[in-house]
Amino acid sequence: MKIGDLEIKGHVILGPMAGVTTLAYREFMKPFGVALSYSEMVSDCGLVYENKKTYEYLATSDVDRPVGIQLFGFDAEKTCRAIEICEKEAQYDVLDINLGCPVFKVTKTGAGSAWLKKPNDLYYYMKKICETSHKPVTAKIRLGWDEKSINVFEVAKGLELAGVKAITIHCRTSKQGYSGVADYKAIAGVKETLNVPLIVSGDIFTLEKAIEAVEITHADAVMVARGGLGNPYLVTQINHYFETGEKLPSPDVLTQVGYAEESAKKLIAQKGEIIAIRELKGLIPHFFSGFPGYKKIRMEIVMNVQTSDQLFALLDGVRSRMSL
Ligand SMILES: Cc1cc2nc3c(=O)[nH]c(=O)nc-3n(C[C@H](O)[C@H](O)[C@H](O)COP(=O)(O)O)c2cc1C
Repeated sequence: MKIGDLEIKGHVILGPMAGVTTLAYREFMKPFGVALSYSEMVSDCGLVYENKKTYEYLATSDVDRPVGIQLFGFDAEKTCRAIEICEKEAQYDVLDINLGCPVFKVTKTGAGSAWLKKPNDLYYYMKKICETSHKPVTAKIRLGWDEKSINVFEVAKGLELAGVKAITIHCRTSKQGYSGVADYKAIAGVKETLNVPLIVSGDIFTLEKAIEAVEITHADAVMVARGGLGNPYLVTQINHYFETGEKLPSPDVLTQVGYAEESAKKLIAQKGEIIAIRELKGLIPHFFSGFPGYKKIRMEIVMNVQTSDQLFALLDGVRSRMSL
């Protein structure tokens, strides 16, 4: 598929996840076949008011590309000033606008999924953004604000008319947050009304879910978010299936240990030991989920690991036991 003039080679887009899709995580995931990644969401105000931490979210690398920067905001003038900053400070390929975040801190300002309540205003906001950005603009939405106001067909068409070059739909309402099941049927037919690519998001935890999502929605690509945590090979399985029709077996624990080590090394190198270990306590246990008998290891990582030496020793212990 193409986003504007940008060729997207593959079937899997890595979903933005605040606190997770750091540059280190994106670099780790890329070789598994990620066609396009997104930064975690970046506040337009944070950039405009020169918040140092916000600028750190703009970091990308050659390995990381093609990559999108995702902004959220509520005021066209501010978002457009933030876009100018991105274009000056960051190396990236796509600009994404977050229209799906359900978090109250964001929606109370009118940003994120609050935009879904005002499709008319949203059209003018996005039009201004598309006119300002020199990079193709994509947008990430949900089904609607709540079950009584599902307006995904209307919003998606409005975004295309405003100049958006691809649309991701997370198949839940804002009110659902991350609970319940992603409803792919709710967007069946949207693709046929659009001339820009559609990316389907929500519950892509297995190859089977990716197949189901594409069969129902006819989306051009799937977005892997939580499903990729501790299971990067899912990206390879999805790509391989859509290219060949074959289903690759899932990796064994030994391979998972190798992936866990690799992701840990990347994060420690980029963020330093203290911050990285804190974040890795959230990430590394995922590599052992779905494998019976690894609950103790997962607990130990969360409760007892304080240093990188401890983490690598623990992972090495798993490997030694497996190789006996
Ligand atoms: C911890 C976390 C952080 C997220 N942060 C963002 C974000 O910054 N921007 C965004 O558009 N979506 C964000 N999402 C939503 C995901 O990109 C994705 O659309 C959603 O999780 C549904 O996909 P999944 O069920 O496959 O995880 C986040 C999700 C999670 C779980």
